[in-house]
Amino acid sequence: MKFMYVFTIGCQMNISDADLFYRLLAPLGYMPGDSPEASDLVIVNTCAIRAKAEDKAFSFIGRLQAIKARKPGFRVGVAGCVAQQEGAKILTRAPYVDFIFGTHAIWRLPEIVTLVVQEGRRIVDVDMANELPERDGSSDGFTGAVSDFVTIMRGCDNFCTYCVVPYVRGREMSRAPEAIVEEVSRKVRAGAREITLLGQNVNSYGKKEGLPDFSELLRRVADVEGLHRLRFATSHPKDLSDDLIHAFATIPKLCSHLHLPVQSGSSAVLSRMNRKYSREHYLERIDRLRDVCPEMALGTDIIVGFPGESPEDFMNTLSLVEKVRYDSLFAFAYSDRPNARAAGFTDKVPEKIKKERLKILLDLQDGITREKNEACVGRVEEILVEGKNIRTLAPGAIHDPVAGERVTGRTEGNRLVHADPGENSSDMVGQCIRVCIDRALGHSLWGTRVA
Ligand code: 5AD
Ligand code: SF4
Repeated sequence: MKFMYVFTIGCQMNISDADLFYRLLAPLGYMPGDSPEASDLVIVNTCAIRAKAEDKAFSFIGRLQAIKARKPGFRVGVAGCVAQQEGAKILTRAPYVDFIFGTHAIWRLPEIVTLVVQEGRRIVDVDMANELPERDGSSDGFTGAVSDFVTIMRGCDNFCTYCVVPYVRGREMSRAPEAIVEEVSRKVRAGAREITLLGQNVNSYGKKEGLPDFSELLRRVADVEGLHRLRFATSHPKDLSDDLIHAFATIPKLCSHLHLPVQSGSSAVLSRMNRKYSREHYLERIDRLRDVCPEMALGTDIIVGFPGESPEDFMNTLSLVEKVRYDSLFAFAYSDRPNARAAGFTDKVPEKIKKERLKILLDLQDGITREKNEACVGRVEEILVEGKNIRTLAPGAIHDPVAGERVTGRTEGNRLVHADPGENSSDMVGQCIRVCIDRALGHSLWGTRVA
């Protein structure tokens, strides 16, 4: 028996691609291994979005050298955005790597691995394609996860000036709605109850290809029998249409949760980022969303220290966060990326200031998250149970809210909830249950199942 291990860094698209690697190599006899050491083949699935993610990839690749030295036949592959960006240059830095395949070579993985393993070849495949293969991701043998992902489009045409994605993932390409609905149906038959549709900018789904638009796609996917919940990521504020906002009110399976990256609260910075919307436009979209769906949970991404970001620009970001009161927020210190236009901008913000701003922003959001979580106490929420666990009391502990049998799931608004199932939980995974929230802790909620 042969084992493979995929180490993934980065976004949900990468996590979903990792699943695809396993499925593509299963017909060659590869089973998922428990660790790199216990595997015959390791793929490092990389992310290029920030310098930190790229460093993490190279440090993991570095650790594989020792395994390779003592394990004959051990093979190392590098995938994802750094593979696409750096190509053969990776071999200079890590000569023990056997194969490198870019973001458009994923479907050639079985051929690549066959050549590497059987003929001892070294392969670098970073060719870009103009279209997606017809059966992107649709194959048998799904993991059976309760909450699963389906990629609906790849690439991005927006060229935000800080972003490397258009260069490493190529132009926007959408899959046919029939192929998407088929993959969703198969995943639901394999046990999925919640599907997140993935793309860099789902709002422009199908526009280039003349396919049905994204709201129509949501309606078709929501019709899949057995599916309880539908989500999507990521949306671009400039393309968030009234029609899509309306979908939240009219498609019951569509969770009232939206990740809408704002990136900055300053219109001047947004303009230099090439985001093509202003602070005012963004806030107007948020008002509209909340008019249509008052319970809407909102998430965002923010970059601090973009070149030329003044103290006043940063204050505008803080005031926007205070105004919107997000349910979740990911904040990043700006970092230069190869090819991205902002790398050539002058007026860079010193690292020390970026760090300070990041901390101020995260502290602000922590307070909001805490208040929002505390406001959930006493409420009854529906959660989709994704797993269960039993935790025993830690030695010496007098009280541990984690002890005992627990089921874990998420609310429609994507809040993590641990709940006392109240009875045998054996058949609860994959079901929606009602939970009365008893307490709020840091980033999670705790509750008890109610009838
Ligand atoms: N520096 C810092 N953060 C970045 N992001 C994208 N590019 C950069 C960069 N060069 C952030 C954005 C995006 C998220 C996935 O990563 O906020 O939404
Ligand atoms: Fe990057 Fe902008 Fe495309 Fe998002 S929309 S992937 S931030 S270029």
